Amino acid sequence: MIISSTSDYRAAAQKRLPPFLFHYIDGGAYAEQTLRRNVEDLAAVALRQRVLKDMSQLDTSIELFGERLSIPVALSPVGLTGMYARRGEVQAARAADAHGIPFTMSTVSVCPIEEVAPRIKRPMWFQLYVLKDRGFMQNALERAQAAGCSTLVFTVDMPVPGARYRDAHSGMSGPNAALRRYGQAVTHPRWAMDVGLLGRPHDLGNISAYRGSPTGLQDYIGWLGANFDPSISWKDLEWIRAFWKGPMVIKGILDPEDARDAVRFGADGIIVSNHGGRQLDGVLSSARALPAIADAVKGQIKILADSGIRNGLDVVRAIALGADCAMIGRAFIYALAAAGEAGVKHLLELLEKEMRVAMTLTSVAKVSDITGDLLVRPS
Ligand SMILES: Cc1cc2nc3c(=O)[nH]c(=O)nc-3n(C[C@H](O)[C@H](O)[C@H](O)COP(=O)(O)O)c2cc1C
Repeated sequence: MIISSTSDYRAAAQKRLPPFLFHYIDGGAYAEQTLRRNVEDLAAVALRQRVLKDMSQLDTSIELFGERLSIPVALSPVGLTGMYARRGEVQAARAADAHGIPFTMSTVSVCPIEEVAPRIKRPMWFQLYVLKDRGFMQNALERAQAAGCSTLVFTVDMPVPGARYRDAHSGMSGPNAALRRYGQAVTHPRWAMDVGLLGRPHDLGNISAYRGSPTGLQDYIGWLGANFDPSISWKDLEWIRAFWKGPMVIKGILDPEDARDAVRFGADGIIVSNHGGRQLDGVLSSARALPAIADAVKGQIKILADSGIRNGLDVVRAIALGADCAMIGRAFIYALAAAGEAGVKHLLELLEKEMRVAMTLTSVAKVSDITGDLLVRPS
C-alpha cells in the first residue's frame, strides 16, 4: 500500500485495528457535524499564492515556552495511545522527539509518565484532566514534574464525556462489549499479537500507578463518566497553578470571552480546540473560532490550535488564521496505528515537506511571517 498522506494512514489503520479501536479514534459526538467541519472549514481556507521572491532559505522552526520546535506542531494528547500500537505512547514520543517537537502525554495513557520520559531527550508535555479524586491530580502533577515534563496542558472541555454513538455500535461500550471486542481481536491477528498480547499491561498507567490497582479498561467510557468531575471551574485552575511551576496551557477554548479569562487568569497559552469534534456537536470548527480569538488575545498569550489539521498546508492555514502553533491528534494516531514509530516519523516528515511547499508558494520565509495577510479575503 502506498502511503503519502494522512488519509492513506487512516485507511491502513482501519485495516490493522479492531473496529472498536478504529471507530473510537475516528469518530466524533452525535451526528459528527463538528468533526466534519473541522476538516472542511480548514480545507476551505484559501491562501494568496505569491511568486518570484527567492524562497531558497526557509525556516520552519519556532520558539515556544522556551523550547525550539523544528516545525510549529506538537502532538495533541490522545488517551489509550498504547492500545493502538505496542506501548504506543513510547513510540509516538520517540518519533516526536526525533523530529524535534513535543509529545503530550494524556492523563488516560496506557503507559505511565515514568515509562515514557526516560526514553526521550526533550521534555514532554503533560495533559491533565480534572478527576473527582484530587489526590490523583496532585500526585500526577508531582510525578510529571519529577519526570521533567515542561508544559502542563490542562483540558477543560471534558467535564463529562460527549455522546459518541459509534462507540456503542463498535463494542467500545454498550452491551456485551467485552465479548464483541474479543471477537474483533481474533479477526485482527496482527494487532492481537503485537498489541493485544505483547503490548500488555493494558491499563490506565498513570492512574493505576497512583491507586496501586489496575484501572478502567474493561469499561473505559463508563470509567470516564464516573471519575471525571463536572464541578470544574477557574478555582480549580488556581489550585493547580500552585502545584505547577512551568508553563500552563488551557485546552478546549472556542470563545473569545473564555480566551480573555485565560489571559486574566495568567495562563501561558490556550489551545483553540473542540476536542476533535468529540464533545459538543455543532460547535464552531477551530478554523472558524480562531480569527475572533486571535483578535481578542493575540500577543497576550500563546495561541495553539488543533481539531481538523491533517497536513502541512493545514498547519500554515491555522497559523494564518491566528495560531502560533498547531497540534495534531488523529493524524499522528492513524500513522502510529498503521506503522508505529516509523509511521509517525514519516507523517511528520510529510507535514514538514508540505509546510515548505505552502510557505514557498505563499512567499513566506519564516513562520512569524505567516499572518492574516496570507488569507484570500472575500472581495
Ligand atoms: C482517540 C482520541 C483520544 C483523545 N484523548 C484525549 C485526551 O486524553 N486528552 C485530551 O485533552 N484530548 C484528547 N483528545 C483530543 C485531542 O487532544 C485533540 O484535541 C483532537 O484529536 C484534535 O483533533 P484532530 O484529531 O482532528 O487533530 C483525544 C482525541 C482522540 C481522537
